[in-house]
Amino acid sequence: MAEAIESALQTMPSLTTHVDGLTLPNPFVIASGPPGTNLNVITRAFREGWGAVIAKTVSLDASKVVNVTPRYAKLHSADGKEVIGWENIELISDRPFSTWLDEFKRCKDAYPDGCLIASIMEEYSRDAWVEIVERCQDAGVDGFELNFSCPHGLPERRMGSAMGQDPELLEEVCGWVMDAAKKPVWAKMTPNITHIEEPARASLKAGCQGISAINTLRCVMGVNLETLRPEPTVEGYSTPGGYSSRAIKPIALRMVMELAQMIRTEYPGRSLSGIGGVEDGHDAAQYILLGADTVQVCTGVMKFGYGHVKSLCDGLLAFMERHGFESPADFKGRSLDYFDTHAGLVQRQAARKAAPAKASPAAGAAPAVVASDRDWTSEDFIRQSNALAQG
Ligand SMILES: Cc1cc2nc3c(=O)[nH]c(=O)nc-3n(C[C@H](O)[C@H](O)[C@H](O)COP(=O)(O)O)c2cc1C
Repeated sequence: MAEAIESALQTMPSLTTHVDGLTLPNPFVIASGPPGTNLNVITRAFREGWGAVIAKTVSLDASKVVNVTPRYAKLHSADGKEVIGWENIELISDRPFSTWLDEFKRCKDAYPDGCLIASIMEEYSRDAWVEIVERCQDAGVDGFELNFSCPHGLPERRMGSAMGQDPELLEEVCGWVMDAAKKPVWAKMTPNITHIEEPARASLKAGCQGISAINTLRCVMGVNLETLRPEPTVEGYSTPGGYSSRAIKPIALRMVMELAQMIRTEYPGRSLSGIGGVEDGHDAAQYILLGADTVQVCTGVMKFGYGHVKSLCDGLLAFMERHGFESPADFKGRSLDYFDTHAGLVQRQAARKAAPAKASPAAGAAPAVVASDRDWTSEDFIRQSNALAQG
């Protein structure tokens, strides 16, 4: 009996995640934003079992940070029941740096095993970056995420995504940080750029241990058709914001895939934290299959609360059990090998069609309802469109 229990325990999958010298109970990390915005909410996250918390982005001088209300806008599904997209025009933390240092210390005193990562952002000044790293480090944080990616408010001061869109600048700033940092450093990328690998490569070249991706996509949520004002409307006006939640997952997955391929070939061993629209364990499994070590969640916590980590863990464990994976590391990057160029797909399909017919068609073969563009008909258009789609 004891032997049976022991052998069952030995084969049970574990979510324990080792990344850059940190050991997390699971790969689910609170992304920088409202869910990590003060000591009260950060400690709640640890109590609920989140693998790590990345605090809301801090800077040395919070007096320049002034938020507005309303600062969020939602995109609902057609039936109005689900939120699928979320815009924010929120800035980084408006709380004094000294308060943050005190809360970092108190947090680590209360939860010494909780992995607390400081998200930091500064202007283009070596002294400022070195100071913010050293003071957070002295307060006991376990690592850093460099916010090179906030799309609104701060680019005017050459901070956030303005810095993250310039690989040369990024390499220099990451170099300053790496001279001062004694803890692991992840550089957080903006998706508001054509080739996300370029700034990521610059950060890794400067020595950062890992990359986080993505931050929000620059967006305009919509225009109110009664008032004719764009939303979120502040005193009658709006400004472009950052888009998050489920709707951004396919874009984020593509960028994570590109980053993972670059890391695998150019910087093997560096880490990757996937972010964007994660709401269940299956979303997380997809990020890990495309090369992520950890998976971050921001809007999902705003929609479902801190206790949601339990269902994230259950969903990921169920996926692992189904496939016999013992740990996230077991399947990290497994699906990267199944990408090819479009020409490669054409060749593979031609080869399958030329081969003697097998009992079952190759995975993913669609019925040839539209064999060529000449076959489309206006009468049958919707059915033909659906017949070419998967899922
Ligand atoms: C309201 C809000 C505030 C955010 N604030 C920050 C921030 O201070 N620093 C940062 O690096 N990212 C910030 N983000 C971006 C998130 O960390 C995350 O990259 C993005 O929302 C995509 O993940 P999600 O779909 O899980 O929300 C914020 C996002 C939201 C929705």
